[in-house]
Amino acid sequence: MIKLAIIGYGQMGKLIEQLAPKYNFEVISIIDPLLGNEISGETLSGAEVCVDFTTPDTAFTNIQKICELGKNMVVGTTGWLDKLEAVQQLVQQNKIGMVYGSNFSLGMNLFFQMVNSATKLMNKIENYDVFGLEFHHKKKKDSPSGTAKILSDIVLKNTDNKTSAQFEKLDRKIEKNEFHFGSVRAGNIPGTHLIGFDSAADTIELKHTARNREGLALGALKAAEWIAQRNGLYNFSEHFSEIIGVEYEA
Ligand SMILES: NC(=O)c1ccc[n+]([C@@H]2O[C@H](COP(=O)([O-])OP(=O)(O)OC[C@H]3O[C@@H](n4cnc5c(N)ncnc54)[C@H](OP(=O)(O)O)[C@@H]3O)[C@@H](O)[C@H]2O)c1
Repeated sequence: MIKLAIIGYGQMGKLIEQLAPKYNFEVISIIDPLLGNEISGETLSGAEVCVDFTTPDTAFTNIQKICELGKNMVVGTTGWLDKLEAVQQLVQQNKIGMVYGSNFSLGMNLFFQMVNSATKLMNKIENYDVFGLEFHHKKKKDSPSGTAKILSDIVLKNTDNKTSAQFEKLDRKIEKNEFHFGSVRAGNIPGTHLIGFDSAADTIELKHTARNREGLALGALKAAEWIAQRNGLYNFSEHFSEIIGVEYEA
């Protein structure tokens, strides 16, 4: 059993606590303001890996504290990447291991790999025009989704005749070099991302639909197991490429 500390007892922290025993983890500490405790040598004593799903404004301080305690960690919290260089230094100075990323879903990371291969293949054939579409529930605060931006980067990297992404509504014809990515917000739709290739004869579609958050929590636990015995800073895609045995492409 790997001894795990959970930092942040919100939706993700609770799910990780639930799934942990099934994946060979023993949760030895849970840190959250609501539980009245905080990160310290005492509260993290015995933890082999920490998993942080807190808030964008607290993540960096948490990372600093955990690095200084010499603990390896997985950080799923988003919104601190402007401090990535400082984090790189902390990880090196304290000789710890850390995996970070904004989408830990195994399915979505497989989807990224599929879109990467598919766009490379479709780039060889002129007849098809690539497009993207994402759907989310009506409470989502932003559009396009962060995942749509990652997908768009993959498409642009591999498609010679697309040089920019267009996420906005258009009052004109789309330019040939523009990759159109639409967003729909309605009801309770779970995160859904589609990449399509359209020709005069047919349409090919690749689609990922998230059913719940379990894939995200499972990805965090797999990363925790992987980083428990490693040093250095890795983004989730690097870790994922290594576990599935494909070359990592930045
Ligand atoms: N990488 C991924 O795949 C992935 C997946 C899902 C979510 N996320 C990201 O992960 C973060 C958390 O998501 P969530 O849905 O679990 O959010 P959530 O339900 O709001 O939970 C966050 C929890 O962390 C607590 N917290 C805040 N500061 C803390 C600190 N310094 N130490 C310990 N706990 C602290 C919060 O307490 P209070 O309520 O008292 O502030 C809250 O209980 C977000 O940034 C989200 O975007 C990433």
